[in-house]
Amino acid sequence: MTDWTSLYASRMAGVVGSDIRERAKLLDARQIIHLGGGLPDPEIFPYARLAQASAAIWADPARARTALQYAPSEGHGPLREWIAGHMTARGVPCTVDNILITNGSQQGLDFIAKLLLSPGDTAMVEIPSFIGALRAFDAYQPQYVGLPEDAEDWADPALGGAKFCYVGPDFRNPTGTTMTLAEREALLDLAERTGIAIVEDGCYEDLRYDGAPLPSLIARAVARHGSIESAPVLHTGTFSKTVAPSLRVGWIAGPAEAIRKLVLIKQASDLATSAFNQMLLLDVVREGLGDMIAEACRVYRGRRDAMLATLARVMPEGVTWTEPGGGLYIWLDLPERIDATLLSQRALAEHHVSAISGAAFYPKGAANVTPRHNCLRLSFSMIGAEPARIGVERLAALVREMMAESAVAA
Ligand SMILES: Cc1ncc(COP(=O)(O)O)c(C=O)c1O
Repeated sequence: MTDWTSLYASRMAGVVGSDIRERAKLLDARQIIHLGGGLPDPEIFPYARLAQASAAIWADPARARTALQYAPSEGHGPLREWIAGHMTARGVPCTVDNILITNGSQQGLDFIAKLLLSPGDTAMVEIPSFIGALRAFDAYQPQYVGLPEDAEDWADPALGGAKFCYVGPDFRNPTGTTMTLAEREALLDLAERTGIAIVEDGCYEDLRYDGAPLPSLIARAVARHGSIESAPVLHTGTFSKTVAPSLRVGWIAGPAEAIRKLVLIKQASDLATSAFNQMLLLDVVREGLGDMIAEACRVYRGRRDAMLATLARVMPEGVTWTEPGGGLYIWLDLPERIDATLLSQRALAEHHVSAISGAAFYPKGAANVTPRHNCLRLSFSMIGAEPARIGVERLAALVREMMAESAVAA
């Protein structure tokens, strides 16, 4: 019998699963109220538009041939052009040479880590951070350092030495919070002072429910340096949250020199993203990305408002939460004496409510980071206001119960 564990590469020692992906397998269990994963609501997928675009591809023999052939590793040319135009309209003048199409932005994060991290290199990450990014970075065996919470500390000369700093400036996963303009400028100052790259995750930037958009880090960097070619930023984008995640189409935007290297990684990894999916997506976004974003925002804004109202009504004193201006997540701070991992286990087993313990969102072994044990991430994306209300009410009852139990124990 082959002893597989003796054959695994050393990098696999640091590779662990994601609690969130494990819970996603429970999605078909209808009795569970899902406040856990941030899956987009299937109600807002553009079924009719996709069916029409698909029929149009098959009706045209030349397009059908392209759709079933390998795409270029860089991505389907017309989609790259569309994305370059989209980035240009958002203050990042660029060309197709600055765009690599990836299988979702998750693949973009993996490729960027592959490009930049040798074993033992330092990756700086915001605290807490998107679990998918941490799991992708883990495989390249970095040491982690946390980006200090307070931007005033970013001027600390001791902060140098990392290869990159990973941040999601808009409506972060998991906290739902957003970086202010002053913080964006301070982070660019840090990058310029220390020579590290910024990896900007733009996953949620279109899902804005209040207020005016802030410029992305890459847009501010281009404004400072005059060109994307000298910007110290790699930006990942995606259509997963605005069109549909199963198409697996995202992109990396950045200086052409880095994009050329990332294309080599793409070639060696999976040759190319599906040509059919890219063509389908292009037809759909050309026609109406704005409408799809508006519809997603309308639905999710309503759910966010409903969940915030329920939290205010039912959570006991001592529990606080973020009020996100967009995205899909609310982050709860529970009283210190509540263990959120235990709470999320009990919520699932006893009350059929799925929520994610905040402990999942901290990097392993970062010397300057103390993981929080009493935080919980809720998502309002997947289910309607009524089941969400019931789920939050059940969670609140459990929090009260655990607070009472810990008072007795003390
Ligand atoms: C912050 C963040 N970045 C990236 C991703 C990856 O998304 P995709 O690969 O579908 O583009 C997600 C998915 O939920 C996310 O929350």
